Amino acid sequence: MARHQNYIAGRWVPPAGGEYYETHNPACPSQALGEFPRSGPPDVDTALASAQNAREIWDQNQAPQRAAILLRFSQLLLDSKDELARIITLEQGKALCESTGEVTRAAAEAAFAAGEAVRLSGQTFPSERPGFSCYTVLQPVGVVAAITPWNFPVVSPVRKIAPALACGNTVILKPASLTPWSATFITSLLEKAGLPPGALNLLIGSGECGERLISDTRVRGISFTGSTAVGIRIAEKVAARMTKIQLELGGKNPAIVFQCDDLDTAAQEIVAAAFLCSGQRCTALSRVIVQASQADQLREHLLTHLAKIRAGNGLDPQTTMGPLVSREQMEIVAGYVRKGLEEDAKLVAGGKRLTENPETDGYFFAPTLFDHVSPQSALAREEIFGPVLPMIRVKDAQEAFEVANSTRYGLAASLFTENLHLINQFIQKVESGMVHVNHGTASQAHIPFGGVKDSGQGAFSIGPTVKDAFTNVKTVYIKC
Ligand code: UN1
Repeated sequence: MARHQNYIAGRWVPPAGGEYYETHNPACPSQALGEFPRSGPPDVDTALASAQNAREIWDQNQAPQRAAILLRFSQLLLDSKDELARIITLEQGKALCESTGEVTRAAAEAAFAAGEAVRLSGQTFPSERPGFSCYTVLQPVGVVAAITPWNFPVVSPVRKIAPALACGNTVILKPASLTPWSATFITSLLEKAGLPPGALNLLIGSGECGERLISDTRVRGISFTGSTAVGIRIAEKVAARMTKIQLELGGKNPAIVFQCDDLDTAAQEIVAAAFLCSGQRCTALSRVIVQASQADQLREHLLTHLAKIRAGNGLDPQTTMGPLVSREQMEIVAGYVRKGLEEDAKLVAGGKRLTENPETDGYFFAPTLFDHVSPQSALAREEIFGPVLPMIRVKDAQEAFEVANSTRYGLAASLFTENLHLINQFIQKVESGMVHVNHGTASQAHIPFGGVKDSGQGAFSIGPTVKDAFTNVKTVYIKC
């Protein structure tokens, strides 16, 4: 079994304590995939020293040179699409077609970020006093910690590393401990692309290692994607030293279906957005809020599309939905199904794990649909992060919007309707960072991505807003 290492100051190095842990394939947990460093405090320290030392070299690399390295990286991602997609599926579980799409998307985001390096422009201003030149410049924030989740082991790191590097920062990547292999691969591609030593450092380890990293005053920017609970802890921890933060957190994303003529297409879009990655996406559609008079019909269409899902090992070309990432995740999902039944929701499909013995046969869970879910229930309000879709019936549009806004989250929302007035109201009223009309919740590689309320904090990722996350503005007044 391969033993992987950290990447610090341009070298692949073992953890100071010499300890490693194994990762496993969630479709077949007895299959160990590799050994990865269990980094401790000395490793965090050397990664920080490396990132700090490399600041000057990297920032003095002219922007077009930084762009060229990132473009090469983007091309290398495309060149190794098949190999990397296989790694994603092996360690995360998702269907191979999804993994391939993830690599293609990461390449597009890296290419966009490369362009941002040469678009780091400030503004000029007329002066109220004669003889003054006044303008702003954008400067790197310094050392950035990128802490990434297991659901998108390639897109999530690339979405942080590429723009942070483009803006002239040095980076320490701490990937989720369940999916470090993809991060190792990405790092090796950046090395091949010609990144100077220390500009990117890979630190593999547990949450404690991440916690130690963000607690260090040398870290001047933090970009984290993960749960709202951890995001809040990070924000609290760094508040006292005013570190710049970008948090992409949980969601409970509604699909409102109201005066909709094409319920079949709506159902198809909803099922895709709800069950991709087995529902383990912060942007997954995770509530259907439907006009009562259309609910029975919509339910039939949802069931038709649900029945087309093929759960199985992600490497099998027939598979459209892989396993959950871990036993823990499977237990959480099963717990929510139990809660739903206790809360008198009507189970319409699924509701159970698909293997007798998950430790040998994988953490598979059936695509699950509940109807007649109360808007106050846990199923309707809490992020489940699994293949469970609750349907909530409402009498009018007013109630639909109230229910949509009734959770702590505000990441993404969809509306399916032909009613233009409703579309307008939805865009105005829904408390959400991203809104989608007549399609499911999906992002694009150059368009700002983020949430409001407890779904996020700081500048949106992807697109031109990345500059706000990874640079500081400096205002210049020159009298001469
Ligand atoms: C995307 O859809 O842009 O979990 C990729 C999520 C986000 C982004 C995933 N972290 O849905």
